[in-house]
Amino acid sequence: MTTTELRQHFPQLQRTVYGKPLIYLDNAATSLRPQETIDKWTEISAQKTANLHRAVHRVATEATQEYEDTRKKVAEFINAADYKEVVFTSGATHSLNLTAWSLGEMLIGKGDEIIVSEAEHHSNLVPWQMLCGRKEATLKRLPVDQSGSVRTDLLQSLITPKTKILAIAHVSNVLGLVNPIQEIAEICGRNGVLTVVDGAQGIVHQRVDVQALGCDFYSFSGHKMYAAPGTGVLWGRKELLDKMPPLFGGGEMIETVKWQGSTWARVPQKFEAGTQNISGTPTLSPAIDIMRQMPESEEVKDYVYRTLSSEPGIRLFGVTDNIKLKVPVFSFSVEGAHHEDLALILDKMGIALRSGQMCAEPLMDRMGVTGMLRASFAPYNTMQEAEYFVSSLRKAIKMLK
Ligand SMILES: Cc1ncc(COP(=O)(O)O)c(C=O)c1O
Repeated sequence: MTTTELRQHFPQLQRTVYGKPLIYLDNAATSLRPQETIDKWTEISAQKTANLHRAVHRVATEATQEYEDTRKKVAEFINAADYKEVVFTSGATHSLNLTAWSLGEMLIGKGDEIIVSEAEHHSNLVPWQMLCGRKEATLKRLPVDQSGSVRTDLLQSLITPKTKILAIAHVSNVLGLVNPIQEIAEICGRNGVLTVVDGAQGIVHQRVDVQALGCDFYSFSGHKMYAAPGTGVLWGRKELLDKMPPLFGGGEMIETVKWQGSTWARVPQKFEAGTQNISGTPTLSPAIDIMRQMPESEEVKDYVYRTLSSEPGIRLFGVTDNIKLKVPVFSFSVEGAHHEDLALILDKMGIALRSGQMCAEPLMDRMGVTGMLRASFAPYNTMQEAEYFVSSLRKAIKMLK
């Protein structure tokens, strides 16, 4: 599909703001929805609403079928060995909290260690802090260098016999850098450490093969990959999921319930307590279909990277010698201009981008800034939009100086 053809699938790209065409460059926060996602949500809400896995009636069977077919499609998309390894959640934050809590119950004791990289989104840091607080375990930091690259070379020296888990993003939501998960998982595996990957940004820009990556868990959100908000996935290796305790108790996660106690359903139902996202989760299916047809041109990314990395007065974070290891997520700060002021001016020019701490406060501290501006591109963003963004940014900077 060409970019022009792709754009026709996204109704919001037709809208204007302040009388100007909307240039949506906040895709790392949430992507836009294609008509196919909206249609799937509407079809299930209008015609196939019934609770899942419970009743024997016709509509319940159809709703359950949509949901379970989606599980198989997601499993195939990420090359899971077994579709039962796909647990549906409300998003990456839910998936990571579920992983941290459940692994923590199973694995972590006083004095154990968990390693987290310095470039993590709060969703892949705070749950581990909470776990360490609960279990009197130690949180260790895998540092990043001045450009934001994770110091993988230091990993082996951080691991001790007490280290049980390492948690890291596949792709940083601030720096746009792809972490070498295969290499990291290999080091961890050799040392008996489980690798938990936050794939919230990775799934959007990389072809994910969880078996080839060699990690133990991989989490992501539907809303960043063109599906409905409130949808998400936790993939985990089945032998681990089988052993892990459920986080929530309630309907459909049980095998039997007696006054004396309960037993749990098999995975994935063990982790899907209560009524699930009946209309939302199946939107992952058309989202995957459209992702498979998206153009793969790197022209926009190369242009924005080249421009921002050489523009006087702009400090681009996440610079790299190998542009192949960067996705089109560009965070930067501008000398003498506050990020919020620039974002407000650019908004008036029709450009939606993110400003602030990007849910990664420790990384802001590491980079010595209070916040940044972030322009994040999707395959429906055009070269003209990128050029308009660059010229608008230059204008906005001039206005503030
Ligand atoms: C790297 C990363 N991890 C986790 C999250 C949390 O995702 P959600 O808010 O969809 O749960 C985000 C969202 O921005 C993210 O970029």
